[in-house]
Amino acid sequence: MLDLFADETPWQEPLAAGATILRRQAVAQANELLSAINQVAMISPFRQMVTPGGYTMSVAMTNCGPLGWSTDLHGYCYSKVDPLTGSPWPPMPDIFRTLAQTAAAQAGFAGFSPDACLINRYLPGAKLSLHQDKDEATLSEPIVSVSLGLPAIFQFGGLKRNDPLQRVLLEHGDVVVWGGESRLFYHGIQPLKPGHHPLVGPMRYNLTFRHAGNKE
Ligand code: SIN
Ligand code: FE2
Repeated sequence: MLDLFADETPWQEPLAAGATILRRQAVAQANELLSAINQVAMISPFRQMVTPGGYTMSVAMTNCGPLGWSTDLHGYCYSKVDPLTGSPWPPMPDIFRTLAQTAAAQAGFAGFSPDACLINRYLPGAKLSLHQDKDEATLSEPIVSVSLGLPAIFQFGGLKRNDPLQRVLLEHGDVVVWGGESRLFYHGIQPLKPGHHPLVGPMRYNLTFRHAGNKE
């Protein structure tokens, strides 16, 4: 498909201490990333999980890699097996791992070794309330987040829930890396506005890469 922006050169924007936005970093690989998402979802389908509070999340999720994040009425956890299928999560595609490691290194986190990739799918109205990513066994590695499809407003705060929020529009191909001082900063996604992305259609995907398990 003709993509007028495919050869736009990526650029960096600092977000906070230890946090950087790599604008358009993933644009050139978007088609391959999208077909890899579809292959993962054929094995471990997208599903709307239920939180311990009994709330059905508006974002649909799946995972790939050795570990996958999920929640149900009993709590949150990383597991090797998809609770929906009873089988291991699908392997992390090489193109995912390479993109995550390259982005982390460009943002100053060389040696990133992701063992979990959470894939979020947002339809119009879907949101992710302000939260911290703190279910990982180690906090020494960053979070790498890749946005595809419709734009969304990302909220990025501080260590306390009521710290002031920055609001930044994340667009197709943008990658956010946060670690070090901002590793536990609160963040979230405001309700997705309806629209149509030429490659992705009426939705947004987000890939979040983490090192979730114990360090060997
Ligand atoms: C997340 O916080 O896990 C995902 C954020 C996003 O969808 O950009
Ligand atoms: Fe998060």
